[in-house]
Amino acid sequence: MDVILVGLPGSGKSAVGRRLAHRHGAAFVDLDESIEKAAGRSIAEIFAEQGEAAFRSIERQAVADIGPADTEPRIRAVVATGGGAVIDPRNRWALYRHRVPIWLDVRPEVLAQRLRRSPNVRPLIAGRDPMGTIRDLARERERFYSAANRLNGVAELASIVERADELVGRSAGGATQTVLLRGRSLGGDLVIGEGIAGTVIADALRGLRARRALLVSEPRAWAAAGEAIAAALAADGWPVERILLPSAEEAKRLAVIEEAAGSLAALRAERGEPLVAIGGGALGDAAGFLAATWLRGVPLVQVPTTLVAQIDSSIGGKTGVDLAAGKNLVGAFHPPAAVVIDIAFLRSLPERQRRAALGEAVKMAALGDERLFALLEGDGDAIARGDAAAFDSGAVAELVERAAWAKVQVTDADERESGADDGRITLNLGHSLGHAVEAAGGFGQLLHGEAVAHGLRGAVRIGRELGETPAPRAERIERLLSSLGLATEPLPYPLATVLDALGADKKHASGALRWVVPTATGSVIRSDVPDELVERVAASLLVAPGVAA
Ligand SMILES: NC(=O)c1ccc[n+]([C@@H]2O[C@H](COP(=O)([O-])OP(=O)(O)OC[C@H]3O[C@@H](n4cnc5c(N)ncnc54)[C@H](O)[C@@H]3O)[C@@H](O)[C@H]2O)c1
Repeated sequence: MDVILVGLPGSGKSAVGRRLAHRHGAAFVDLDESIEKAAGRSIAEIFAEQGEAAFRSIERQAVADIGPADTEPRIRAVVATGGGAVIDPRNRWALYRHRVPIWLDVRPEVLAQRLRRSPNVRPLIAGRDPMGTIRDLARERERFYSAANRLNGVAELASIVERADELVGRSAGGATQTVLLRGRSLGGDLVIGEGIAGTVIADALRGLRARRALLVSEPRAWAAAGEAIAAALAADGWPVERILLPSAEEAKRLAVIEEAAGSLAALRAERGEPLVAIGGGALGDAAGFLAATWLRGVPLVQVPTTLVAQIDSSIGGKTGVDLAAGKNLVGAFHPPAAVVIDIAFLRSLPERQRRAALGEAVKMAALGDERLFALLEGDGDAIARGDAAAFDSGAVAELVERAAWAKVQVTDADERESGADDGRITLNLGHSLGHAVEAAGGFGQLLHGEAVAHGLRGAVRIGRELGETPAPRAERIERLLSSLGLATEPLPYPLATVLDALGADKKHASGALRWVVPTATGSVIRSDVPDELVERVAASLLVAPGVAA
């Protein structure tokens, strides 16, 4: 077994690590020291001469060099990491998975004092106000550190080592569960990991003072995830009740909500009793709406089981159902108390579902997330195929984390889509034309993400003509879509039907559509896109009239 120590600079990782390793006759690795030895220079010098990005890449290699996790019960190695090593999702995957990560939590005030006395110059703090800098670092990194087992790091060294030892003893059995991120947002706590659902849902239910687990799911998600979750909760002593809605879009009907509310009444579900929604975006929207309206609102725990739901629909608090007149016409904002994202559920998802979801991920990348862009360019196709290597290398985990957290940041900035902040509107990149082609196909032919991919190509082409999207950016986005097999063929729909659907959206937007178009590094909103241009671009997405599809 390997123990990994993480925490802010000055939190005592090396001192605790050395003692702990000595006690168990285990090897001790100080990651920063190994980097300095290999480079023949101090970290401060690497920062000064090559910059932080170069240091992070050397650090990533050093983490990879630690090698595979050791699963023997005795402690083989104790690794003290550099304070920032855990920022990189792949490093966290390598360091936390099948190992015992411990966060030495020390208050910023104490750290600032320690660092003032320390002879070592820490590059991120040198020359700045230590207190302010440490507070910023603590805020930025809390979601990464708190995914590890927390240990109060302010005490005598011997007592910290003693408690670390106890913690290692307790955690050894849980090495099959990996928490990668534990973040807070206005839309509830967000936990991402592998094999974590049962434990983290139980924690959330305890936090909500639930007396039982009321699980709402649908048959396919139940088989892929719900059954195992119910068994884990029952083993933890929870009385479990289950309500099954129909699979996929069939769940999003008022009649289904009425029947499910009847089941809650029969179960005598009370105000304050949380519902746990286990399923994809459709189940989450319907069960979320049920939670928003049952007894005028009860807490909700979202457990997304599809890629769309993990990176998009479970975050942000939008819930709702469809009417014959259109999708999502009846709904409510009802932010979940917690979102529990377990990437293990994605293994059973059909390839087409995973691939389509990447349409939304490409959109998030095009909005300005360079690292997400690079990840999709490198590993996107393997992720879509569900290759075991894409899961084992941490590529799937990185994708989910980057895309989900990007959505958290945008929705936190504009919680109720007030429009006061343009942030959330940018999420509509690719959605105007995307929605129009989805509607033109009768919502049954294209998956949402596939439609967004077509819409994204449309937005890029509009951006080109408006002079907003530089050619290299446009080519890069379209090339990425092609490499993922998204929107590669023109659609066999009549132009008039697509334009009609756009017209209906325009009515909802009081006459003027706000187009989100890509720029060199992000996006811009334009309300002045000429109809003639929209028509031309829409036509470019469709099979030309007279040409057989
Ligand atoms: N609320 C929002 O902010 C928001 C955002 C985007 C999309 N949505 C909504 O989400 C819905 C689309 O979500 P979706 O793509 O997840 O579709 P979905 O919920 O219909 O799930 C897709 C299919 O996968 C099955 N499934 C679920 N989990 C599985 C698993 N782990 N293994 C195997 N099969 C599994 C489902 O039974 C279904 O057949 C739409 O209704 C859309 O309107 C909502």
